[in-house]
Amino acid sequence: MACPFHQSAELNPALLPLDWLLGVWESDEPGEGSFSSIPPFRYTETLHFSHVGQPIINFMFNAFHAENKKPMHRECGFIRMQPGGNRVAFIIAQNSGLVEIEEGDLTGQCLTLHTHALARTSFAKEPHVQQISRVFQLRPEGKLEQTVSMAMEGGPLMQHLHITYRRSS
Ligand code: HEM
Repeated sequence: MACPFHQSAELNPALLPLDWLLGVWESDEPGEGSFSSIPPFRYTETLHFSHVGQPIINFMFNAFHAENKKPMHRECGFIRMQPGGNRVAFIIAQNSGLVEIEEGDLTGQCLTLHTHALARTSFAKEPHVQQISRVFQLRPEGKLEQTVSMAMEGGPLMQHLHITYRRSS
């Protein structure tokens, strides 16, 4: 869904280091999901990154079952940059009942984020995830890559998702 102001609002200069993210990205081939406790799965995903002239990126990620196309995971939120620095914060709400702040540093067109704060519904099913790390990287050929790893309480950090996207607008 395009943001109605996206076309008209001028990009806030604070967002220039992240302008490579803006737009709509579609998975070019199904992403791969895994974790030690679940069977491997494949999914497709669309990412929307937009702005309304504020020094904030609005985002929405919608993931679907690769075969039956049914909606699966969704997350949305805001991206803020530290004024005058290269620290980036993602403020995220997930349809699984998690809310999260991830923070990390921007190095060129690679963004590495780690959980800074995490909360869940009182009735969230176990096991409870404790730490999430993700990397967004714009590859030289123009594809965007996302890798997500997570750790459960007392467990090691392990990969959950890997997917690449091509720009669709
Ligand atoms: C940062 C984002 C995400 C987090 C923190 C997250 C977290 C989790 C957790 C904690 C589990 C339970 C693992 C277990 O039972 O041991 C899980 C399972 C699963 N996740 Fe994710 N997930 C994320 C994104 C996604 C995305 C984008 C998809 C794509 C469809 C997805 C698909 C699944 C599936 C299919 C399972 C196994 C079945 C289920 O428990 O629902 N996840 N995820």
